Amino acid sequence: MRRQSPADLQWSDVTPKSFFLNRRALIAGAAGMAIAVPAAAKLDYVTSPLSTDEKPNSLEDITSYNNFYEFGTGKGDPSAYAPALTTDPWSVKVDGLVGRPGSYDLADLLSGIPLEERIYRFRCVEAWAMVVPWIGLPLGKMLEKFGVQPGAKYVAFETLVRPDEMRGQKSPILDWPYREGLRLDEAMHPLTILATGLYGEDLPNQNGAPLRLVVPWKYGFKSIKSIVRITLSDSQPETTWNMLQPSEYGFYANVNPEVDHPRWSQATERHIGAGLFAGREPTRMFNGYADQVAGLYSGQDLARDF
Ligand code: MTE
Repeated sequence: MRRQSPADLQWSDVTPKSFFLNRRALIAGAAGMAIAVPAAAKLDYVTSPLSTDEKPNSLEDITSYNNFYEFGTGKGDPSAYAPALTTDPWSVKVDGLVGRPGSYDLADLLSGIPLEERIYRFRCVEAWAMVVPWIGLPLGKMLEKFGVQPGAKYVAFETLVRPDEMRGQKSPILDWPYREGLRLDEAMHPLTILATGLYGEDLPNQNGAPLRLVVPWKYGFKSIKSIVRITLSDSQPETTWNMLQPSEYGFYANVNPEVDHPRWSQATERHIGAGLFAGREPTRMFNGYADQVAGLYSGQDLARDF
């Protein structure tokens, strides 16, 4: 089913809704359902070779069990309240150490960047795991558009502040806006993507529409949703969970079974959708991506730089 990408499909090739519909039919077809598979199922040809072979979670799991504190702290709050967020029009402010700063409309940000679809195992710090068939593009490809200056060492991201539509922002549970950051080499790694969709559709609001980060070798809190600002800087940016509780949440947040969270073990994880009686499974170093990313941290003490 998974084929390697031959493709340099442009974003504009897949915007028509008909492709998404074809894609859905194809997924249903692959699942053994009696639905005719149309010929023009183009998206199937752009699955990233970086994808995992693991079975994706159901759309229901992926869109109903979420963390998005702007809408409340319960796992069901994002699906209940995120539909209130207006995601069109959407622009992203790009600033800091870039040659082409400015406020970019979402369509301009995405234009000219080849689309890739990737499937990632996605594990959150609460030690649950999900596999999501993201549609996204390498963050590095987008950063190249901005003309990253030689002095830049980090990338910072911010989510929007709009308490009228994000009811959780009416209380100070976090220091809004939600903030995250990566070292530049992490940001440029091909596994780091900006997702704009999942399961062949635009991103549901609860999953971070219209643009969210996905860094599959890190705990889920690094994958910031509904991004409105990207800043290149020469110093390590402040990040939401690290600001809140630095002893528990480090800047790196690499998935690491050997370094426990002070209040719980990270050695095992629970797979959402595996059923009530399924056992926990061992957490994998760098979430299973050690071959690809361990080299980014050579010489670093990962117990200190957690
Ligand atoms: N981004 C924003 N803006 N606000 C949040 O509360 N939660 C993070 C991350 N991105 C969060 C966020 C956490 S803790 C996790 S585990 C993931 O989003 C959850 O992503 P998912 O709901 O798509 O599984």
